[in-house]
Parts: sequence; structure tokens; C-alpha cells
Amino acid sequence: MASLTVRQLDEALKKRLRLRAAKHGRSVEDEVRNILRSAAASADEFGAPAAPNETTRDAATREPAPRAAARRVLLIIGGGIAAYKSLDLIRRLRERGIAVRVVMTQAAQQFLTPLSAGALSGERVFTDLFDPASEFDVGHIRLAREADLIVVAPATANLMAKIAGGHAGDLASAVLLATGKKILLAPAMNPQMWSSKATRRNLAQLIADGVALVGPNAGEMAERNEAGIGRMAEPLEIVAAVEGLLTNTGGALAGLRVIITSGPTHEPIDPVRYIANRSSGKQGHAIAAAAASAGAEVTLIAGPVNVPDPVGVKMVKVETARDMLAAVEQALPADVGIFAAAVADWRTDHNSKEKIKKTGTGTPELTLVENPDILSIVAHLKTKRPRLVIGFAAETEKIIEHAKAKLARKGCDWILANDVSAESGVMGGDRNTVHLVSASGIESWPQQTKDEVAGELIKRIAAELKERAPKENSPKENSP
Ligand SMILES: Cc1cc2nc3c(=O)[nH]c(=O)nc-3n(C[C@H](O)[C@H](O)[C@H](O)COP(=O)(O)O)c2cc1C
Repeated sequence: MASLTVRQLDEALKKRLRLRAAKHGRSVEDEVRNILRSAAASADEFGAPAAPNETTRDAATREPAPRAAARRVLLIIGGGIAAYKSLDLIRRLRERGIAVRVVMTQAAQQFLTPLSAGALSGERVFTDLFDPASEFDVGHIRLAREADLIVVAPATANLMAKIAGGHAGDLASAVLLATGKKILLAPAMNPQMWSSKATRRNLAQLIADGVALVGPNAGEMAERNEAGIGRMAEPLEIVAAVEGLLTNTGGALAGLRVIITSGPTHEPIDPVRYIANRSSGKQGHAIAAAAASAGAEVTLIAGPVNVPDPVGVKMVKVETARDMLAAVEQALPADVGIFAAAVADWRTDHNSKEKIKKTGTGTPELTLVENPDILSIVAHLKTKRPRLVIGFAAETEKIIEHAKAKLARKGCDWILANDVSAESGVMGGDRNTVHLVSASGIESWPQQTKDEVAGELIKRIAAELKERAPKENSPKENSP
């Protein structure tokens, strides 16, 4: 279908259209679409997928499809190598019923064509601030207004600097400055650029301004022999973050204090050796990120891990179980405590100050003593017990049975039980299959990414606290 050009209508009609659009709080373009949609409702020829013989160029220039109740994302693609992943991101978002409209920077067009992005999004791609076809009614403001969420992927160092500085010299930055909607950045850049003082400054400003982030991840770079933090989050991780923001966990935990533990603990044997486990911290860190983006004030107490610190949380880095307990006690009081760390059950009764040497007269004897049980200690606190205490049970067999026993033994409110047997790939992997065990029963969640598990958990926590609020706020029966 040819694109509609309101400019070519006569002045009187344009004026009537503007008045009608203003009355309905729509843009002129949207008003015209609305009129056409009503007129054609019986013919049902709008909103249908591209005709079989429609070319990708037609699709790229086709006017946006009706956007009735769909959730709408404006995806801004910046000029980085990771731009190719954004094509998959468009596909993944649309699979979930999310309408995607795309803006590409000039640099992004060196890596991708608007044609490919348009063919996948099914909508015209916007590239130019001074585009007469869309700026007759100040289209960049409309782009900013018509989305439920703005996603920048890849978010280049340049775009981050522009957003932090409030620039508006091109379409992408003008839209980002003009929007009141939540912005999600998926940064992607060389590790040196990511850790540069300028990017750190811009990042701090963006976080202070309430911008949400997903990634970047650690790993290999496109450049040969380069590795570090700077890889764009995978499309499915970005989708999970988008779903989280669109389903409005944003604000769901606003005003609440949440303590989360994550990762393993290391229990020293001597200055060079320690007892450890395979926990990566991915699940605990994902929960911290989700809680922060839901508006909570998050303290993340983490053992030694190789995953990046989530943004917007207070990090406390510890090594041993006893350090972790001390940090938790220090961080209390809190509304919610989520104990996802794989705390070592035992430590040696003696931590040798010197490296233990082979003597040739036999092996050294290690005597183990029990570590403090952080979950149980916090769940049994009299005055500072969080309203909701949640533990994780990492099991390799009889998962539900053991989780139920752990719930009773520890005195916590919920246990999230997961299978960490070697075959499950959970330890260190990106996916998790979780069973939520509580006094009211067992709920088995489907296998999901750890980000999705985190988002789901945050939703449950918000719902639980909301349900409890009237009971917690009502006067106690025996109060005077
Ligand atoms: C081959 C190549 C790859 C690049 N990859 C990145 C990248 O991953 N991240 C980044 O921030 N900049 C990258 N750049 C630099 C940006 O393209 C450049 O800063 C550009 O001005 C960004 O424009 P934009 O932010 O408007 O898209 C790359 C440049 C080239 C030539």
C-alpha cells in the first residue's frame, strides 16, 4: 500500500483534521489512520500481514499498522557491530505480540539497512530528523509519545554520551530527549570504551536519571583477541528486560528495601587454597537487577563471581559465609530478604596463615566445622525479620521433598527449589527450572532464562506484599 501523505490534502481539510485530532488527543497521522480503519472495518483489509507479493521495500516504507491494544516498543538501533542482533530482537519481540517501530542512526545504517529492519518490524523505519514525510506534524515527538517503552540496542558509547548530555542533534537523540517513557539501554562496545572514565560518568548520570540497563555481558569481542565486559546482552535477555518493564514491575517494589545474596562463598584453607562451589551468581544478580528496576532499594551481597555488578544496586562483596552473614546483618532492616547465594555449609576449623606444605609424611588432615546458616538466622530474627524471607534450595535429587523439609526447618516464607545436578546445566548456565514451595503449596514454573525467573519472582513478591498489606496494617487483635 502506498504511504499516506497528509501534506497533499487541501488546507481546509488539513485544518479540520488537525482540530479533530486535537479533540481526540491523537496526532494528525493517527487520526487519519483511525478514520480509515473505521471506514474499512467491514472490509477487514487493514492490519493484515504483508501481501505475498509485497516487496521488502514496500514493507519498509509501508505506514504503520493499526496499533490498537498492542504493547509498543520504539527500538533505536545505534551504530555498532552488535546491530545485527537487533534484527533477531525485532523478531523475538514481535513473536510475543509486541509491536516494534524502528529508528536507525546514520552510523547504524553502515551495519544494517533500514530495509531489513523494516521487513522484520513490518513498519516504516525512521532515520532522519528532517524527514518531510514524517515531520510535518513534528514526527519525532510523535515517535517518542507513541511508544510504551524505548529500547536502545545496541546503545553505543556515543548514544549514551548524547542521552546523558541531553543532546538532540539527530533523530535518535531528539526522540530520547523528547520522551517521558521509560528507556532501556543495551550497551555494546569495546571493553576499553565501556570502562573509560567518560562512559562511567555518563552511565552514572543515566542511572541517576532512571534509565534502565540490560547488560553488557562479559565475553569475546568482535575484535580479534579482545575479551571483557562490553558484549551486548543477547536478544532473549533484552526481551526479558522489555517484558519486565512492559508488565510494569517498574515501580512495583518502589519504596521497599530488598537484601539479596548471590554467588558462592570461598572458605580459606590457607592463603592460596579454599573450599568453593560452582555457583555463578547469575540468578541472584538477575534478581537484584529485576528488583532494582522494579524500584526497590537493593543491597546485593555477593560472594566471588565473574558476572558484572547489576546497575542501580548497592554492592557488598564478601568472601566467606561469616563475612556474608555480617554484611546481611549490617544491611538489615529490609522488607524482603532473598537468599540466593550458595553458602558453603562448612569451613575448616583452622585457616593456616602459611601455605600448607607437602611434608612427605602423609596428607594434612582438614577438620570441618559448620558455617552459620544465614537463611535460618534471618528467618528466626525477632525484631528485624524481613516481611518476606525467601531461600533457594539447590538440590540434585528429591527436589520438592527436600525443599519442603528446608522450608519447615529454616522458618522462611518461600523456597525456590532448583535442580542443580550436572545434567541440568543450571550451575553457571543461563536457564533455570524452579519450583516455588510455600505454606500454600508447590508451583512449578516452566524452564525460563534466569532473567525471566527473576522477573517472575519480583512480580510474585509485589503481589504477595500487596495481598498482605491490609492484614499487616490492621490493628493487632490484643492491642489496646
Ligand atoms: C566497525 C565498527 C564497529 C563499531 N562498533 C561499535 C560498538 O560496538 N560500540 C560503540 O559504541 N561504537 C562502535 N563503533 C563506533 C560508532 O559507530 C561511532 O561512535 C558512531 O559515531 C556511533 O554513532 P551512533 O551512536 O549515532 O549510532 C564502531 C565503529 C566501527 C567503524
